Amino acid sequence: MKYDLVISGGTVITPEEISQVDIGVQGGIIKEISEGLQGEKMIDARDCYVLPGAVDPHVHLNMPTTTTTSSDNWETGTKAAACGGVTSVIDFVEPDKEQLLTDALKSRRTEGEEGSVLDFGLHMTITDADQVTLDQIKDVIGAGVTSFKLYTTYPGFLLDDTQLLRVMSAVSENGALVLVHCESDAIVQFATASVVKSGLNDPSAHPLSRPPQAEAEAVNRVLTLAGTAGVPAYIVHISTAAGAAALARALENGQTAWGETCPQYLVLSEELYQQPGFEGAKFVCSPPLRAQENQFALWQQLSSGTLHSIGTDHCPFFYQNQKKLGLEDFRLIPGGLPGIQSRLELIYTCGVVAGHLSLQQWVETCCVNPARIFGLNPNKGTIQSGADADLVVFDPRVQETIRHENLSEQVDYTPYEGIFLEGKVRSTFARGEMIAHRGEFTGLEHRGKFLPRLPRKESS
Ligand code: URP
Ligand code: ZN
Ligand code: ZN
Repeated sequence: MKYDLVISGGTVITPEEISQVDIGVQGGIIKEISEGLQGEKMIDARDCYVLPGAVDPHVHLNMPTTTTTSSDNWETGTKAAACGGVTSVIDFVEPDKEQLLTDALKSRRTEGEEGSVLDFGLHMTITDADQVTLDQIKDVIGAGVTSFKLYTTYPGFLLDDTQLLRVMSAVSENGALVLVHCESDAIVQFATASVVKSGLNDPSAHPLSRPPQAEAEAVNRVLTLAGTAGVPAYIVHISTAAGAAALARALENGQTAWGETCPQYLVLSEELYQQPGFEGAKFVCSPPLRAQENQFALWQQLSSGTLHSIGTDHCPFFYQNQKKLGLEDFRLIPGGLPGIQSRLELIYTCGVVAGHLSLQQWVETCCVNPARIFGLNPNKGTIQSGADADLVVFDPRVQETIRHENLSEQVDYTPYEGIFLEGKVRSTFARGEMIAHRGEFTGLEHRGKFLPRLPRKESS
């Protein structure tokens, strides 16, 4: 049999094994994994790693804030992601207050279908716990969205404990899961007021206004509430050792929960807010970058399996005309960092090469686990017969320093400028099509498909 495509001779990495084999692809699907395969198109992957396409479970493309909109749209953001080895993303539906959740989902899905070059899923953000909202959860799940995003901070978004319990319980009854942004709003308000009172108003005030205790308290509380409601919970962007430890305790007690951290919390730290001028604004995100000792704890928890997933929380804003909205007041700096393109390469260099993670843990945290947790498997995040041929050829011999001008993200800087990479994505394949090669998007426009998901009870 001659396949459409064969990726031959690479070192294929899956959670189960690392082996030098060929992958035969027909009609966009992996058909055979073995030796000596023949294809119309042969890709020589000798001396390279071959991994499942990376899944980024946490991105904000074209996301409106109160003052501006994140600068990557579906097209630019997913093209940049493809260049970095990503083949699926999960973004968010952010309904307006009076809008039906399913209407908001429909229009966000259309936006994705019109612009995305990657297959994509959506999480539903819930900012109300009234009966009208809760009654819609079933319909949202029926439309293929089985994860619900809750906030413990941000005015207009946050839910109090009673509301959290109501939503968690309704989500649980319907076999879905919650993702939660964990920062105690009470601590954030208190710390912000005290920083403002002291007269600090530049970016160096940001980490002081959202201290580590805010995360630890909220992770602990949210997991207690989730345990009470019996809902599986995914804690997004854990940035502190204390937050990760709170999750580890819940897991030890048998709770169904997962933790995500992000490259920014693994490789960047809070000194970056002290740079002269307004440069620190480039690093303003919530939760903020932390003291360096947290990084070691986060790597350890990833390695021991008590943190499960690395998402980017990609939410870019131009430094010149967007971050500078907060020139006079740090509270007005739009919060969020770019990173959709660099995750796989950063985690390889700073995680695997640096000795924090094994090759298989790299693949698990960036590709396999995000797909499994959010019900995208077995089609995504896996290399097995019958799965979509979403594959990355990664060359560990290519060395390159990260420079903003070499990235495709639609933004005027990268927070990772100057980091020396010891390995790069060579090619990205999505459903058998080569969509990126050596940092250039090579795929078809608008090729992304919405990925409807099943509730956990039905999918497991
Ligand atoms: O500052 C951040 N992280 N902005 C994006 C929204 C969020 O909280 O994840
Ligand atoms: Zn968040
Ligand atoms: Zn986010």
